[in-house]
Amino acid sequence: MNSYEKKELKHAVNTMECKRLLTARQKNYGDTLNITHHATVPIKAGDDSYGLLNVAAPRKEHFEKDELYILETAAFQIGTAMKRLEAADKEKKQQELDRKKREWMESVTAASIQRGSNVSIIQKALREVFQWEDVQIVTEHQKNFTDEVCAVPFHYGETKGLLCWPRSSKSAEEKKTLESLAPGIAMMLEDYRLQLLKEEAAKISERHRLARDLHDSVNQLLFSMSLHTAGLQAMNKDERLQEPLVEVKKLVHEALQEMKALIWQLRPEGLDKGLGHVIASYGETLGIDVKIYDKRTEEWPLPIQEAFLRIGQEALNNISKHVSVKKAEVRFSSKNTRAVIEIKDDGEGIPSRVMKDQQGFGLQTMKQRMELLDGFFAIHSEPGTGTIIYAEAPTGGKL
Ligand SMILES: Nc1ncnc2c1ncn2[C@@H]1O[C@H](COP(=O)(O)OP(=O)(O)OP(=O)(O)O)[C@@H](O)[C@H]1O
Ligand SMILES: [Mg+2]
Repeated sequence: MNSYEKKELKHAVNTMECKRLLTARQKNYGDTLNITHHATVPIKAGDDSYGLLNVAAPRKEHFEKDELYILETAAFQIGTAMKRLEAADKEKKQQELDRKKREWMESVTAASIQRGSNVSIIQKALREVFQWEDVQIVTEHQKNFTDEVCAVPFHYGETKGLLCWPRSSKSAEEKKTLESLAPGIAMMLEDYRLQLLKEEAAKISERHRLARDLHDSVNQLLFSMSLHTAGLQAMNKDERLQEPLVEVKKLVHEALQEMKALIWQLRPEGLDKGLGHVIASYGETLGIDVKIYDKRTEEWPLPIQEAFLRIGQEALNNISKHVSVKKAEVRFSSKNTRAVIEIKDDGEGIPSRVMKDQQGFGLQTMKQRMELLDGFFAIHSEPGTGTIIYAEAPTGGKL
């Protein structure tokens, strides 16, 4: 036997008189077969303990050194067998988790053929394949988790998040598997984000094309119609036609105005000169004195420019409708790879009931626009202290 085992042998001891056996005898629990003493041998394998082996025989009060040695050897055999069983069990569990990991990957891929995988697809597959009802994917700005959870952080490109589960609900192997899933999840979510951005950019380009077409066709036709109507009016000598011609001229004028507004909605004019320029002129039409703190915004992805423009417009609409001081500050900036717009007014502030749960369509749409771009949206406002609308979106590159 090597010295390691000799060291272990020291732990095999004679128990002089077993308290439990004594109590059993005194309280007459049943036949103790004249057993009064036993040897106690720890069951060990390496540094791992698997319990104690108590050995006794009727009328035997002492175990010789040789006997203890044999018992120790037997306990070691038992310990080693238990360790092997435990390792085999672990290995089996790990294999099962690896199989589920592959199944999860296949399930996510199958569900994401068209658009890539979003949080709910990934989470649904975690539930279905691993039966992990309690594992949650939390993205950067959702802070709805507590200290009760374990979390693996993940990030890829602009995507940051946490994979969370309730503390002590997972085995060591499951935790390892969750940790190994996190980088893949980050990559999937980033792909999904980029895919959405691409789709949004394609939609905007299509709207711009439609705006150009309308401008060059219907708009030009209406314009020439208005010239012809004016000409007809000038030449007309028939009293009966006078009124209908005035009506036609009015209708054509209205149609031109509608067309202009529609084209502007589809493709805001002057976007190539920067967002500040467009928002300032929009403010002018509403009679609001807008101070712009600009930075070059022309390089920002189209979907971000479009979203910021609509947010800026709605914030100015709100100032025009709900605020007595017709003044606003609009600031564009960038934070690392994130584009930011802030619209500030020194008005009455948003009523607290609205801040709590009664936001209208305008404020809700601003929030949804940022969610779509995986951005961040916040309103800072208190009655009497004015309002700041803040929106931030990842651009996908350094600024
Ligand atoms: N800058 C602001 N200052 C003070 N109150 C505001 C401001 N912006 C919004 N509010 C308040 O918040 C409410 C909700 O605004 P929201 O833009 O969502 O809806 P709305 O302007 O009432 O209607 P719409 O759906 O047409 O935009 C407003 O009715 C108004 O009471
Ligand atoms: Mg509004």
